[in-house]
Amino acid sequence: MKFLFSLATALLAQTAAANLQNALQAVLNIQSQQQSQSPPPNILLVITDDQDLELDSIDYTPRITRHIRDKGTFYRNHFVTTALCCPSRVSLWTGRQAHNTNVTDVRPPYGGYPKFVDRGFNDNFLPVWLQQAGYDTYYTGKLFNAHTVENYHSPYVNGFNGSDFLLDPYTYSYLNSTYQRNQDPPVSYEGHHTTDVIAEKAMGFLEDALQGERPFFVTVAPAAPHSDVSPQNIKAGNPVMTAPIPLKRHEHLFQDVKVPRTKHFNPDHPSGVSWVRELPQQNETVVDYNDYFYRSRLRALQGVDEMVESLVTRLEESDKLDNTYIIYTSDNGFHIGQHRLPPGKTCGFEEDIRVPLFIRGPGIPEGSTEDSVTTHIDLAPTIFELAGIPPRSDFDGTAIPVTPEFEGTRHEHVTVEYWGKAVLEGDYGKIGPGGTPSVPNNTYKSVRLLGKGYNLYYSVWCNNEHELYDLETDPYQLHNLYPTGRSPVDDEPRILGRDLAQVINRLDALLLVLKSCQGVTCIKPWDVLQPADPVVSLWEALDEDYDLFYGEQPRVSYDWCDAGYVIEAEGPQTPLTSRYGLSWDVWV
Ligand SMILES: *[C@@H]1O[C@H](CO)[C@@H](O)[C@H](O)[C@H]1NC(C)=O
Ligand SMILES: *[C@@H]1O[C@H](CO)[C@@H](O)[C@H](O)[C@H]1NC(C)=O
Ligand SMILES: *[C@@H]1O[C@H](CO)[C@@H](O)[C@H](O)[C@H]1NC(C)=O
Ligand SMILES: *[C@@H]1O[C@H](CO)[C@@H](O)[C@H](O)[C@H]1NC(C)=O
Ligand SMILES: *[C@@H]1O[C@H](CO)[C@@H](O)[C@H](O)[C@H]1NC(C)=O
Repeated sequence: MKFLFSLATALLAQTAAANLQNALQAVLNIQSQQQSQSPPPNILLVITDDQDLELDSIDYTPRITRHIRDKGTFYRNHFVTTALCCPSRVSLWTGRQAHNTNVTDVRPPYGGYPKFVDRGFNDNFLPVWLQQAGYDTYYTGKLFNAHTVENYHSPYVNGFNGSDFLLDPYTYSYLNSTYQRNQDPPVSYEGHHTTDVIAEKAMGFLEDALQGERPFFVTVAPAAPHSDVSPQNIKAGNPVMTAPIPLKRHEHLFQDVKVPRTKHFNPDHPSGVSWVRELPQQNETVVDYNDYFYRSRLRALQGVDEMVESLVTRLEESDKLDNTYIIYTSDNGFHIGQHRLPPGKTCGFEEDIRVPLFIRGPGIPEGSTEDSVTTHIDLAPTIFELAGIPPRSDFDGTAIPVTPEFEGTRHEHVTVEYWGKAVLEGDYGKIGPGGTPSVPNNTYKSVRLLGKGYNLYYSVWCNNEHELYDLETDPYQLHNLYPTGRSPVDDEPRILGRDLAQVINRLDALLLVLKSCQGVTCIKPWDVLQPADPVVSLWEALDEDYDLFYGEQPRVSYDWCDAGYVIEAEGPQTPLTSRYGLSWDVWV
């Protein structure tokens, strides 16, 4: 582009086409005028750690409600694509599914900061792209797991004009955190609360950003309300995670608050598949502990609530608030006691995959809600759109509806993927094999679909167990509808007026596409299956004309359970495609 431009100017000079050059100059003047009229917006991104949507945490942060949610849009159906910190964050920062980043775990060989670097993302992620587009970028808090006091300089994180990272093994040590600023050595904050520390750092970077001439992108990623992990509790890569520690001034709050007693809270009958189904019902001691754990999370969030208020107030005092988007979200959700689970994430249930997302800023209606499905891989494309940068072709996500003038693609699905161990937290979490706080073979893929009149979750596990929940009739995911070998019964439920077998055929084919999708195929998966006879939704794909076609598709399955994205373990990769139109019955 630059080359063409210089070539063009050279040619113009050579031919002395002075009037043409004047015309070109006029165009450039108009462009720069337009730019000065509406400078690119600033962006403030707050990412909490492990904050749920489903357990009502957002009802306990009044300042965040007042300053962000009520001033903008609440995305009610926002999902993560992998319910674990590091993979989810890498997906957020690159706009790509974990099967395309191949950062699928919190530590090497399958994940963590070293894997992020090995995969080349240190030169190729959101802050780098935003700097290239003219932004000043700042970051404080947790970036990735396995970003440590040992490896923080090999190499340093790219892409930030100013950074101050929480480092392992002190990332979740609420009272003895370690931060590492720019290219300085790590500093221990023993005796200070991590949220007070980050609040001060965040205000400092916001100040730097406000002083600058260029638009800014500031990210603040506090450890709260993640569990506390003190270094002495990290043994052989299996850390014992205990309840988060609130600031002293919040310790007394919410004394009567308990985990919501929904139908799936410590239910009388087992639910889920695989290891979840084997969990014993929790006794009173464990339930009391879980309530305490829940309160500790809400208390730990209060510091974040106060920090957000300070940041927004400072923006208000500057003249920049009107041209700043503020985005609030979390890296993954959290469960406590649902399906008899100890505290934790890593599952595909609603609690784990739904997270808060609020956005306020220029053009966004106050107090609005958005119901279409949005995901974490949509956030980088959305920030590109807000900043006026053309989308990258390697984005698996797509910009979400931000202003009422939105003209982009809406989608009804999210692809959820997981590889490796389930992590169990809290004092009663040591119930994995050999009394460990983790369970192997928590490897699964799923598709979550929300359309007009349907609300479904379909998953395939690495031991080839399946789940199908109709959340329209079973919002708590207690009744797995997937037939398990028994012969069909007369009163078998139907979905959208079709037999379960037909619905499962469609969902499985969709998952077959999504589990290895790239770029636009992640957004428009049905186009891969039916390019000559396009449909845009499950509803349309359920047409009887397509029954034979979907009945012939290879099924998603695994050959074994692996801890990482080992393609040989992952069964069929390619669906049949109706290249010549379904009516001719010619499939490739
Ligand atoms: C931020 O970093 C970019 C890329 O290195 C640089 O071009 C820009 O001048 C920096 N901004 C400030 C305020 O130093
Ligand atoms: C706090 O962290 C520092 C390292 O940053 C460590 O040397 C020290 O022992 C820790 N203190 C406690 C009480 O764990
Ligand atoms: C409740 O269950 C926990 C975890 O299994 C166990 O350690 C504890 O002893 C039990 N308490 C009672 C009163 O049974
Ligand atoms: C996990 O999966 C592997 C490979 O499929 C299998 O050999 C192993 O027995 C499984 N472990 C458990 C605890 O289920
Ligand atoms: C993902 O990374 C792991 C660990 O390096 C490797 O074994 C695997 O082959 C990679 N997967 C793909 C699809 O490249």
